[in-house]
Amino acid sequence: MPTRILGIESSCDETAAAIVADGRDILSSVVASQLDIHRKYGGVVPELASREHLRQIVPVVREALLQAGLTFADIDAVGVTQGPGLVGSLLVGLTYGKVLAEEMGKPLIPVNHLEGHVHAVFLEAHIAGRVPALPAICLIVSGGHTLLYHVQSANENVGAAARGFRFRRLGGTRDDAAGEAYDKVARLLALGYPGGPIIDQIATKVAASGVAFSARDKDELKFSPVKIRGNAHDFSFSGIKTAVLYYVRAHPEFAEEIEARKKAMQQGLRKAAELMPLCSPRTLALISNFQAAVVHDLVARTLAAAEETGSRTVLVSGGVAANSELRKRFEEKAARLDVDVFFPSRALSTDNAAMIAAAAYSHLLAGDLASPDMNAEPNLRLA
Ligand code: KG4
Ligand code: ZN
Repeated sequence: MPTRILGIESSCDETAAAIVADGRDILSSVVASQLDIHRKYGGVVPELASREHLRQIVPVVREALLQAGLTFADIDAVGVTQGPGLVGSLLVGLTYGKVLAEEMGKPLIPVNHLEGHVHAVFLEAHIAGRVPALPAICLIVSGGHTLLYHVQSANENVGAAARGFRFRRLGGTRDDAAGEAYDKVARLLALGYPGGPIIDQIATKVAASGVAFSARDKDELKFSPVKIRGNAHDFSFSGIKTAVLYYVRAHPEFAEEIEARKKAMQQGLRKAAELMPLCSPRTLALISNFQAAVVHDLVARTLAAAEETGSRTVLVSGGVAANSELRKRFEEKAARLDVDVFFPSRALSTDNAAMIAAAAYSHLLAGDLASPDMNAEPNLRLA
């Protein structure tokens, strides 16, 4: 009989539940997004997030069971995100998970959300019939994090999906997370929230359309590479964001189109195809160059870390891992360096509970269960 774990995730603005068998087969995965609630504020409002988790948690768990064709009696353990994240949001999933596990008389396993993101890559690789070789360099890149880890197997004797990991932190962002920079630039340019997907789509369309920018736009809008003193594995994205801000402020002609896009969004227009016609060629150049600078930096620092540590595998996870240019550039550059790059699908890149259930499985095998006084850890670290 496979071991079936119910995973629960509520660390930020997604209420999610999933059932995963033996840490690798996803029997169901349900995600209730709160995007529509937070959109008008241009970011996640913690109070609204916890209230929404409270409304969603019971139906989402019920739906996960329904989709898997299972009942509570079929569940062997409950895995729940302990942190990092918003404390009020974490508490909803954690409290519900505790009560469920106790009622069912089943083990409760606390999971680090970041470790979940690493397992998301393994879940995806399993679907493709592949197993990422370790040691690896892992880039976790989302709205809340931009982190680089060296990942080793904690136990070579168990199967890949069940394998626990040992993490060594190499570096992380000193200011904004990459996804946060996308969201802030999108807000500044009136492109809606979240910023990542819309900037990604517009930049892709620009590249495909072969729009030729004027020499002036191309040069003026080029962002210089991010300079970091000290640890070369650290990141910094606030400089690029501020450069965009200053550029827009210094050129008053942007104001009119920004107003036009704001109006369009008030009327419900949100898609790239709808907002792109309201962008001047200069704005399109700005968007493309911003994305190119962020992607270049993420790829270069990650591959440099792989080279330095002699790792032949790179794992990329978190919301920004869904970015098409990031995937393309990683694949191009990694192939030249003979490094294998693994990404989760878009659905497994962003927050979900399947990755939490998968991570919980390795802890269950290791006998690593929740203590009675286990609590939410908003600043939980991986290493
Ligand atoms: O992992 P996630 O769902 O939540 C956090 O833990 O933050 O990531 C959300 C972040 C947002 O900042 C969003 O703008 C970004 O991921 N994102 C993207 C893309 N899709 C989502 N960034 C760049 N390109 C994308 N396609
Ligand atoms: Zn996340």
